[in-house]
Amino acid sequence: MKRLDGKVALITGAARGIGLAFAERYAREGARVALADVDFERATEAADKINKEIGDCAVAVRMDVTDQVSIDAGVADTVKAFGQIDILINNAAIFSAAPIVEIKRADFDRVFDINVAGALFTIQAVAKHMIERGIKGRIINMASQAGRRGESLVAVYCASKAAIISLTQSAGQNLIAHGINVNAIAPGVVDGEHWDGVDAFFAKYEGKAPGQKKKEVGEAVPFGRMGTAEDLTGMAVFLASDDAAYVVAQTYNVDGGNWMS
Ligand SMILES: NC(=O)c1ccc[n+]([C@@H]2O[C@H](COP(=O)([O-])OP(=O)(O)OC[C@H]3O[C@@H](n4cnc5c(N)ncnc54)[C@H](O)[C@@H]3O)[C@@H](O)[C@H]2O)c1
Repeated sequence: MKRLDGKVALITGAARGIGLAFAERYAREGARVALADVDFERATEAADKINKEIGDCAVAVRMDVTDQVSIDAGVADTVKAFGQIDILINNAAIFSAAPIVEIKRADFDRVFDINVAGALFTIQAVAKHMIERGIKGRIINMASQAGRRGESLVAVYCASKAAIISLTQSAGQNLIAHGINVNAIAPGVVDGEHWDGVDAFFAKYEGKAPGQKKKEVGEAVPFGRMGTAEDLTGMAVFLASDDAAYVVAQTYNVDGGNWMS
């Protein structure tokens, strides 16, 4: 028997990167998966690939986590496709960086709208569904080592991820009364398109050659390299499994030893 047999997972930001790796791993563990993303075209391609390679278990869902109507529609589409939602992964987020004196209010609003309000109101929509149906569900939020400690050029993104750790604690305490476990994963540096953007930012602000920042952060990880999206999937399966029933309101570092708690 696979570890997530019979479960339905809604994963935001699943068109690419870490969210897509979660969707693929969950599918291999027996779950049916809804890949929710503002990039619907790419989510559709990703779902098609999972259906071909792993089995007929994925759908793409159009969802913009900054828009309540879109969140509610995405939840309804998932329920229509698969009957219910047992697991939510709040993974959609954007990165942003600038020196303090250059931060724009509009950029702050956008990051917090997606990374924090997006997570909170998706939790709310899915929790309502789980409570109505009596589903003892699982909610997993994507935090970051950026939420453990501020960084000179990354104030807004770091603050948004610190907010996710806090939100995980509050939602975790509140929703466990309904049998819903809320926890989070804090990755370190994970290679992929997200980090291509981070690398380009540091190339601009620190005068580094393209690829240089990635090389430096990879070498600084005690494990000896940057993470891959696949490195995170074991924790995502554990937190969604019966083995994590007594795990509540925690944020787990999965970062090759970068941060210790
Ligand atoms: N890559 C890393 O090094 C790293 C490290 C720590 C934490 N994280 C976190 O892990 C998660 C995934 O990171 P990633 O590297 O795969 O990022 P990514 O940028 O590759 O993917 C993010 C996805 O979110 C989607 N998205 C953006 N705005 C959206 C919106 N408004 N509504 C719905 N979807 C939206 C994008 O279309 C994209 O598919 C994020 O929460 C990120 O903060 C990443």
